[in-house]
Amino acid sequence: MTMVDDPHGITTTRREIEYAAATLGDHLRGRLDRLCRAAGTADPEGRYRDSLTELLGAGADRPLSAPAPPSRVSDDHTPAEFSVTFPGGDRPRVRVLTEPGCGAATLAENGRLGQLALQRTARSWDFPLDPLRRVETLFFPAAPQGTFALWCAMELPATPGTPGFKAYLDPAVHGPQHTADVVEEALARFGCARAWPLLREHVAARYPDDDRFAFFAVDLGPWAAPRVKVYVAHHRFDLDGVRRVAGLFSERCGRQAVEFCRIAAGTDRFDRRPPVSCLSFTGGDPGTPAAYTLHLPVRDHVTDDGHARDRAASLLRRQGLPTGLLDRALGAVSRRRPVDGVGLISYLSLVQAPARPPRVTVYLAPEAYRVAPAQVRESRPVAILSRESSPRIRHAHPPAS
Ligand code: TRP
Repeated sequence: MTMVDDPHGITTTRREIEYAAATLGDHLRGRLDRLCRAAGTADPEGRYRDSLTELLGAGADRPLSAPAPPSRVSDDHTPAEFSVTFPGGDRPRVRVLTEPGCGAATLAENGRLGQLALQRTARSWDFPLDPLRRVETLFFPAAPQGTFALWCAMELPATPGTPGFKAYLDPAVHGPQHTADVVEEALARFGCARAWPLLREHVAARYPDDDRFAFFAVDLGPWAAPRVKVYVAHHRFDLDGVRRVAGLFSERCGRQAVEFCRIAAGTDRFDRRPPVSCLSFTGGDPGTPAAYTLHLPVRDHVTDDGHARDRAASLLRRQGLPTGLLDRALGAVSRRRPVDGVGLISYLSLVQAPARPPRVTVYLAPEAYRVAPAQVRESRPVAILSRESSPRIRHAHPPAS
């Protein structure tokens, strides 16, 4: 087997590259392997790979040359997204989000396929699906509405063991006008009813026009403290909004969230994709949020991924963390140079919880179908731009790998 050095310094075998070209599953498994190696996460029996295959459903066997499925997990409709989370004081973790039913003709079928994939995964790792069952009748009606049925995520442990899993559900499943009712009911089923007034009156205070309930999520598997999570997307948001919402948890949380946005977005207005708040609740005190997370769609605020990488690196350095893994992760998920496109880093997020250091997460799009062209950097001198012959629009997807 020939060893090949790619430009990002990750050594791959020739066979792996050829293998990577055939199906979406191959493409994503190859990237998971590389990401695990970059993060020093061992997958001794290939069981994480197998679980990824399971969680991709029929998407795993889709030829990479076929059109993209109608998934909203990623901008280019790849039904998967990777992320690396950097807990201060603990080892980074590799995660992947998927849509197992992405090829289905209806949302109902999409939900069935998603449940099936989770059932198989639960059987092979031996964990119960009880948390999902609690909200089954709410989120899987006979004729679901909304934009997706079921997304799944897997978080790999730093040392070999059972991954943590998560199921994401759509609060718009009974129509966009009922999202608040659905979230209120879902929280009640987990004993979190006391949290509802805070959410409805303060976090989603501008509901239904600007604040929208985007996701409801439940943890599955061996989490130390399994959570349920409510996500609110804030359309037409600004730094005052960030200060107001994050400041509900503590003054410090508000300050840190504003600082995070300043570094990650470099602006005080967010009028493209909405920043997304996430409140998590655990069994210990189900009425009080255990953590507050702000997700920022960094790809809307940068010219290219070199720029997004620098923003992510600043956030990590601010937590006193090294940036080597960030660069290795970018090289593991993509073969292009970060400056040659935008959207490889889709979101940056900051989790804040009492008595824990803030946790930065970098979300990485596999770009199996398309790379969005980099924008021209405004700071570049005009003279250099006009002399440049390279085209500004690049469909930079290298031949299927
Ligand atoms: N692609 C979708 C979006 O941008 C869903 C999504 C993927 C998302 N990763 C995310 C939403 C992280 C919030 C945070 O909305």
